[in-house]
Amino acid sequence: GRPRDLAGRKIVVSAGGTREPIDPVRYIGNRSSGLQGYALARTAVARGAEVTLVAANVALPDPAGATVVRVESAAQLREAVLAASGDADVVVMAAAVADFRPAARHEAKIKKTDAEPEPIRLTKNPDILAELGERRREAPDGAGGACPHVIVGFAAETHDVLANGQAKLARKGCDLLVVNRVGEGLAFGTPDNAATVLVAGGEPVEVPLGPKEDLADAVWDLVATRLA
Ligand code: C5P
Repeated sequence: GRPRDLAGRKIVVSAGGTREPIDPVRYIGNRSSGLQGYALARTAVARGAEVTLVAANVALPDPAGATVVRVESAAQLREAVLAASGDADVVVMAAAVADFRPAARHEAKIKKTDAEPEPIRLTKNPDILAELGERRREAPDGAGGACPHVIVGFAAETHDVLANGQAKLARKGCDLLVVNRVGEGLAFGTPDNAATVLVAGGEPVEVPLGPKEDLADAVWDLVATRLA
């Protein structure tokens, strides 16, 4: 069995991938399945946590014992994560959040005509993880409760994993950064994952290829240590 070392802790996990609307029927999306985020939610419930799972376009059943908030776009995911993280102990951003969205959303379906189609202009989405880190950095000492104590991000890196990951960990102001190894037939839609967990002020932890639950438990081990 698992330790009940997250008992009484409020934890927010985001999962899946956002869809950025182009018009009422079309969107820009990504291939995230939500499997890793759901594994994080399930294992956190099993370890005693009170879990809010913010799920973006995930075709998986709600994990038992978690409060599930379903969202579509990055803007909706941001609202849901910020609303739930006000009194949370831990926030884990496992969702693949679109970096860009169409600058304008067409109210009516874009029609096919003989003319060349209009280009879709993109604009930047806010970085939710960086925003959480910034809020915490700016919170007065002992403000208590207004910010999560532990912030965890995910990153997919193909090369210079440690250097790129450490820079991202610092830039985003998070405590842990789970760097997925991509491009080895891993990640999206598969039940297994392999990762390096970068730890602010500590040594990286290697998690070998295995079920996504194993990576989730490795993350919770590190989170529990930082909460203690
Ligand atoms: O910068 P990059 O997209 O590689 O960072 C990935 C991490 O940042 C993930 O934890 C993801 O959930 C989070 N993220 C975010 N808001 C964005 C883009 C990424 O919170 N707009």
